[in-house]
Amino acid sequence: MNAIETKQLKKMYGGVSVVKGIDLTVERGEIFCFLGRNGAGKSTFINMLTGIIQPSFGTYSLLGVKGPNHQVKKKIGVMPDYSSLYASLTAVGHLKYLSSLSGKKVEKEQCMEVLKKVGLELHANKKVAKFSFGMKKKLGIAQAIVHEPDLIFFDEPTSGLDAESVIHIHQLINDLQKRGKTIFMTSHNLDEVEKLCTRVAIMKEGQIVKIGTMDELRGYYSSQITVKLKHSRIEKRNKMTLHQWLESVGTDVVMEDYYVTITVNEEKKISEMIRAFNQYKIDVLRVEVEEPSLEDIFLDEQL
Ligand SMILES: Nc1ncnc2c1ncn2[C@@H]1O[C@H](COP(=O)(O)OP(=O)(O)OP(=O)(O)O)[C@@H](O)[C@H]1O
Ligand SMILES: [Mg+2]
Repeated sequence: MNAIETKQLKKMYGGVSVVKGIDLTVERGEIFCFLGRNGAGKSTFINMLTGIIQPSFGTYSLLGVKGPNHQVKKKIGVMPDYSSLYASLTAVGHLKYLSSLSGKKVEKEQCMEVLKKVGLELHANKKVAKFSFGMKKKLGIAQAIVHEPDLIFFDEPTSGLDAESVIHIHQLINDLQKRGKTIFMTSHNLDEVEKLCTRVAIMKEGQIVKIGTMDELRGYYSSQITVKLKHSRIEKRNKMTLHQWLESVGTDVVMEDYYVTITVNEEKKISEMIRAFNQYKIDVLRVEVEEPSLEDIFLDEQL
């Protein structure tokens, strides 16, 4: 049974499709992330699945149950928009109240435990009205997980958090996955996505333009491999010939004193180069292959 399945899920506002009919399957146990510019449709997509807005077209199921479904809601965690927190309640009060609304009562101890997990243990009895932005965000994360849901939606869980808290939340998300939960999130932090997520979908103007694991996404780009070789000294008389030969093997050749950087289009060119260097009695000391980063892939897709 999949965690999420959507078929032609679409949202229109005033005749404009902001989510343009998305077919998506997220398996159980994934940390799946939507990446995309502001206004790409990420939150709209999540809000349809969590029942905050109604789809204009298409269907979805969560944990194998066709949505919207009241029963399945208990098994789902949603991080709220921080502005929809109840300002007059304390952090603990908020968690207790919200979980009772979702139909799964939680005890105070459980609330305290979760507040500790998100780093709010010292503010458990403080009123939400007095919370900073980051604190509200953490309370939102706590709210999403306090009732031990199987599927959790995090819309930009770490944006606006301090560096230490970001690391903390990443650990929390990893732990959730280790305990068998499925996480569907959005992010603008490419490093975070690269480190954390099992699969990534790049969304542009309401559509998924690329989807896959990081390795798969890199695969699309692996036809261009940038290699940096560290080598022993090259005799002056050999430099010119070697440079010419390298230009015939790849592009963007840069020769420095002890380094050669070159872009080639297949891996076997790397071993060819090492052999050639050896023929000139040059030792290859180190080979670094620069993999395309998510940033390269993302920027390229957004052009
Ligand atoms: N209630 C609404 N009425 C009309 N248009 C809306 C409404 N909500 C969202 N939109 C439009 O839908 C598009 C997608 O918005 P959405 O909030 O899903 O983007 P996003 O990818 O989450 O962006 P961000 O990265 O800024 O959070 C935007 O063009 C936005 O203006
Ligand atoms: Mg958004």
